[in-house]
This record gives sequence, structure tokens and C-alpha cells, in this order.
Amino acid sequence: MSLKNTRDRWGAVSQSFHWLIVLLILGLAIVGLTMDELPRTPKYFWVYTAHKSMGVTVLALMLLRLAWRLYAGAPAPVPGTPRWQAAIASGTHWALYALALAMPLSGWLYDSASGLRPFRYFGLFDVPKLTGPDERLADRAHDAHELLFLVLVALVALHAGAALYHHLFRRDDTLARMLPARRARSLPRQDPDHVA
Ligand code: HEM
Ligand code: HEM
Repeated sequence: MSLKNTRDRWGAVSQSFHWLIVLLILGLAIVGLTMDELPRTPKYFWVYTAHKSMGVTVLALMLLRLAWRLYAGAPAPVPGTPRWQAAIASGTHWALYALALAMPLSGWLYDSASGLRPFRYFGLFDVPKLTGPDERLADRAHDAHELLFLVLVALVALHAGAALYHHLFRRDDTLARMLPARRARSLPRQDPDHVA
């Protein structure tokens, strides 16, 4: 498989970014939604630091992914896709980029404005603060972190639902071309009972 995106499929780099970041965001969401319930033991602080460190990792990966996307381009829409559907898909993709960047930024801003001690990135080094302590800004960033997450969930549901609809009902290459194994759905199917 080619590293770079080609006219008809996503290359290995875009695929790796896509599925790695999906897994990381899923993990961050599960930890983010449950960490507040943990008993206030040292593990509680460890989990918060892990959430923050992993979130900053997603921010860095998203910036690299954006640079790659601008360099490597995207495949053409799957043949037969109406123009309006291609436009919605492209708009959704750029909105997902914006959200996956804004989520960690709002978390980092919340952490910074809360006036907490700097957190250590996976225990390795202190992550700099984006701003000094500011209670109002901290509240706003906190609200943004929650709200952006809800928008992300809604958009991912739409996006993943569309991918599954194409795969299961339209039976085209939309999902297959974001997966490593090529399944040539657009080629005519072989009838096992048919002898040429
Ligand atoms: C893609 C990256 C991220 C995702 C998907 C994510 C997701 C979440 C979610 C779902 C919550 C729970 C919100 C709620 O209670 O409704 C949460 C809470 C939190 N996140 Fe993130 N987060 C990300 C990055 C970050 C980063 C980079 C930081 C800080 C550097 C951070 C700091 C926090 C903090 C401190 C909370 C707890 C807020 C509270 O106590 O109510 N997050 N996150
Ligand atoms: C956190 C969740 C997700 C995010 C942030 C996300 C983001 C994106 C982005 C930005 C693209 C454009 C490709 C690129 O520029 O790299 C894309 C493409 C794609 N995604 Fe996702 N995605 C998520 C979850 C999913 C899930 C769960 C599925 C499948 C069930 C999926 C299936 C696809 C497919 C098939 C494409 C290629 C579409 C095409 O070729 O037109 N994604 N995704």
C-alpha cells in the first residue's frame, strides 16, 4: 500500500493517523467522563495527568495529521457520489479536524487558567501554561471543553453512520479505502455457480 493518498484510496499514513486518533479520542472520552467519580487517592491525580498528557498528544498528532493532509491531499469522491454528498463529507471532515484540535486546546486552556501547578507530561517534563490564573476564563474553557465534546459526538455519529451506510447498503468503497485490506467492491462480483 502506498504511503501517500492516491486518487482512489487513503494511504498508510492517513489511515494510521485516522484509526490511532479515533482510539485515543475514545479512551480520552471514557476517562474524561468517569475520572471525576474516582476516590480522591493519589491515583485520582495520576488519572487526571494521564488524561491531560494523552490529550496534548492528540493535539500534536492532529497538527502533524493536518500538515500531512495538506501535503498529501485526498482521494477523489467514490465514483457515483452526488456532488452534494461529496460537499457534506468534505465539510464534515474539516469540521472534525477543527473539533479534534479545539478539544485538547480548550482542555489545556482550562488547566492553565485554573491556576493549578503545571502538570508533568507522562511524568517527563512540565507542560507550560497558556495563560495565568483567571477564574472566568477557566469557567469558559471548561464549558467549551464539555460543549465541544457533545458537538464532536454528534458529528462522529453522523460521520461513522455515513461510512457504515455506504459499506452495508450502498456497498461501495467508502469504508474499504480507509482500511488496510483492499476489497475491490467496485469490481463486478464473481458468481460461484457461473462457469464461463
Ligand atoms: C482530544 C482531546 C480530549 C478529549 C476528547 C477530552 C475529553 C474530555 C471529556 C469527555 C471530559 C468530561 C467532560 C464532562 O464532564 O462533561 C473531559 C474532562 C476534562 N478534561 Fe479533557 N479531553 C481532551 C483533552 C484534554 C486536555 C489536553 C486537557 C488538559 C491539558 C484536558 C483536561 C480535562 C480536565 C481537567 C477535565 C475535567 C473537567 C472537570 O473536572 O469537570 N482534556 N475531557
Ligand atoms: C473520533 C472519531 C473520528 C474522527 C475525529 C474522524 C475524522 C476523520 C477525518 C478528519 C477524515 C478525513 C480524512 C483525513 O483527512 O484524514 C475521516 C475520514 C474517514 N473516516 Fe473518520 N473519524 C472518526 C471516526 C470514524 C469512524 C468510527 C469511522 C467508521 C465507522 C470512520 C470512517 C471514516 C472513513 C470511511 C473515512 C474516509 C471517507 C472518504 O473517503 O470520503 N471515522 N475521518
